[in-house]
Amino acid sequence: MTKLWGSRFEGKTDSLADKFSFSITYDYRLAKYDVIGSIAHARMLGKCKIISQTDAKKIVYGLKKLEKQIDKGTFKFNQNAEDVHTDVQSALKKLIGKAADKLHTARSRNDLILLDMKLYCLVELTAIINAIAQLQKSILKFAEKNKGVIIPAYTHLQKAQVVLLAHHMLAYVEMLERDKTRLSDTFERTDAMPLGSCALSGTSLPIDRDYVARELGFIAATRNSIDTVSDRDFIVEGLSNLAVLGMHFSRIAEDFIVWATKEFNFIDIDWSLCTGSSIMPHKKNPDVLELIRGETAGLYSNLNEMLVLLKGLPLTYNRDMQLDKPPLFQSVEKAKDMIALLTKLFANLKVNKAVLHQRINDESLFSVDIMEYLIKKGLSYREAHDIIGTMVKKCTDKGIKIADLTKEQLKSHCPKFELDVKKLLNPEMSVRIKQSSGSTNPASVQKQIAKWKKLLHA
Ligand code: ARG
Repeated sequence: MTKLWGSRFEGKTDSLADKFSFSITYDYRLAKYDVIGSIAHARMLGKCKIISQTDAKKIVYGLKKLEKQIDKGTFKFNQNAEDVHTDVQSALKKLIGKAADKLHTARSRNDLILLDMKLYCLVELTAIINAIAQLQKSILKFAEKNKGVIIPAYTHLQKAQVVLLAHHMLAYVEMLERDKTRLSDTFERTDAMPLGSCALSGTSLPIDRDYVARELGFIAATRNSIDTVSDRDFIVEGLSNLAVLGMHFSRIAEDFIVWATKEFNFIDIDWSLCTGSSIMPHKKNPDVLELIRGETAGLYSNLNEMLVLLKGLPLTYNRDMQLDKPPLFQSVEKAKDMIALLTKLFANLKVNKAVLHQRINDESLFSVDIMEYLIKKGLSYREAHDIIGTMVKKCTDKGIKIADLTKEQLKSHCPKFELDVKKLLNPEMSVRIKQSSGSTNPASVQKQIAKWKKLLHA
């Protein structure tokens, strides 16, 4: 068993206690950051003359070798090491000998783990933000390809009004943009260098924390050593952002699961993202979307796990905090997979235009437009609403269409009706007459598409 402590321990630690407490099985993911952080730390120790330049150089040389091994995937993780810090430290000692013992000067695993976790988060937050931007581009492309397509839009999953398919897609782009800004906000708060806080109170050695911060690309060093080793807010925030992202994904997934049913039949999801049934040969199931919807549960529970883990912990470091890693890693890895899969989905999504054309041939979809026709002629909203309500009910009961009503019949509902009201029984007209900003008006949707294209390709 490899540990960084134990000289004052009487006898061996219990093997089950070791198995229970070792974190190498999951924190190995931090090895690269542990090494990069250690290189900056060793350089600082040399510069500040806390260790000799010769030792500093030796340490940096060894760490760079380890970094290469980690990048190439040839670094052999030792499952008997307590954690990633211990593993890197022992591998370094094997490589360069005694000088390695000086690396852990003026630091503790309490601040080191934060450095590793923050570097991991900064890299992954950036990767996720960039991946979301790719997904947005993929959605935008799909929207543009289907520019003129009109779909029925739903409230309560009941047909409501017609909108441009592109308008619906831009709603997704907006949701994802908010996700990106949330992640960027978290990035900013994560961007503070923790090393040098040591166990909790700082150090009597003349270190230069600003130098380490600069070397590693942090905007600054953290300000309070007690807060630094106690803080896991950035992980809670990251998990919260990913939970919201998952919530968005689950809603997109649900839209498409519904749209891909034989009953709706609005879209065809590419075969590569569907599965068959072992018993029903006719089936094409949207499993990937269902799993995106399902994995969102994990994103929620990881956030919850983290909040519960931290609740009531006394300042400063407690070993409980080690358990921040599995939920974080899982959420990050799942979110990245979900983003990549959705990006593929949009790239190969087919729209059943003929079916949609049929589905929007439904007069009820234009009732608000007809109501607004009467409002424009001076009726109050209430009067207009009642008139259209009665008219639609009468027509439905008698099985006739508004389009077939004579001028007299129309006027019997409201004298303000003229035959020109029938022009409104048309989906193209319905989207075209919308004029409020943010509406489904084709010119305004086109402008939005152009705006997003510029923004995302900048
Ligand atoms: N594996 C530990 C963690 O993730 C590293 C810090 C250990 N510190 C300690 N005092 N035991 O939290």
